[in-house]
Amino acid sequence: MATPFARILGTGSYLPEKVLTNHDLAARVDTSDAWIRERTGIAQRHVAAEGETTGDLAFEAATRALEAAGVRASDLDLIVLGTTTPDLIFPSTACLLQHRLGANGCAAFDVNAACSGFIYGLGIANQFIRAGSVRTALVVGAETLTRMLDWDDRSTCVLFGDGAGAVVLRADTEPGVLSTHMHADGGYKELLYNPVGVSAGFRDEKNHGVRVLMAGNEVFKVAVKTLDAVVEETLQANRLEKSAIDWLIPHQANLRIISATAKRLGLPMERVVVTVDRHGNTSAASVPLALDEGIRSGKVQRGELLLLEAFGGGFTWGSALLRY
Ligand code: COA
Repeated sequence: MATPFARILGTGSYLPEKVLTNHDLAARVDTSDAWIRERTGIAQRHVAAEGETTGDLAFEAATRALEAAGVRASDLDLIVLGTTTPDLIFPSTACLLQHRLGANGCAAFDVNAACSGFIYGLGIANQFIRAGSVRTALVVGAETLTRMLDWDDRSTCVLFGDGAGAVVLRADTEPGVLSTHMHADGGYKELLYNPVGVSAGFRDEKNHGVRVLMAGNEVFKVAVKTLDAVVEETLQANRLEKSAIDWLIPHQANLRIISATAKRLGLPMERVVVTVDRHGNTSAASVPLALDEGIRSGKVQRGELLLLEAFGGGFTWGSALLRY
């Protein structure tokens, strides 16, 4: 039998109810709506309610994806969940999600690749399906990044939001995911990281707890260059001209980074799914949130060629090319 492809059967997403606007933030730190919009394209972001966890957001997104796919949770062979903000240190959020969905028994694990977590998850699930060892997989990106922020640090607290997105994949003779590309360079740790953890200790040398530390300007430059390279790698691996791409579904960190990638592809912004204005950067959730919005809004049609990409802390980065 020919090697099977991983096809997207259905997508789903979820955003917490509470919306935090730039104006809300300007009342708290020395910033302005104009500055945030101009530098990032962000106007608002969603914030999880007290007690609402990454697993809760993941459950809503996964339930919607299963519904859209017409798949029962008990049919799942694999759950991969990209997150940097798990509910607990263990069990993994994927295990918590598996139990809530009623998919007990299948393999379930988290992937921590920061903002590239969903692309990594998709790459992993794709390999399992191509190898023939998994028929039906659920891939989720879910985050409550706002729990990790220093709300007095204007250089980071304006950028992030909470949310979740999910896709159900099934083995099929028709494509499907055509290729996935995953990379990392741990040499860039200092540019974007959270300095505390289980083994290093929950307080850093400045006695600070959990927070995001970032050299924004340098991250920006490396992100643009690296995404250009992975887009090129994806086109070459598939022997495609850039004109073949119907939709760019990018990680939503900054509208200027997204526009630079679109320009590189020669794609007008009408062919790019943009959610960063309303969601901010939801880390591993941003690509599946954008994908679900593109599909449910009726923009992205069956048979079209989609290029997904992401870049995040690590650094990690990657892409996926798929025929929807
Ligand atoms: N409001 C107002 N001013 C702010 C501010 C805010 N929220 N945050 C920073 N500033 C100030 C800085 O203090 C600096 O002031 P100075 O010139 O007096 O020193 C000035 O704005 C410019 O800062 P800079 O960091 O050079 O701005 P920038 O154009 O690079 O924009 C980011 C900052 C963070 C928006 C941008 O660098 C970025 O998006 N980087 C990528 C981040 C990212 O994507 N991270 C996640 C990767 S997954």
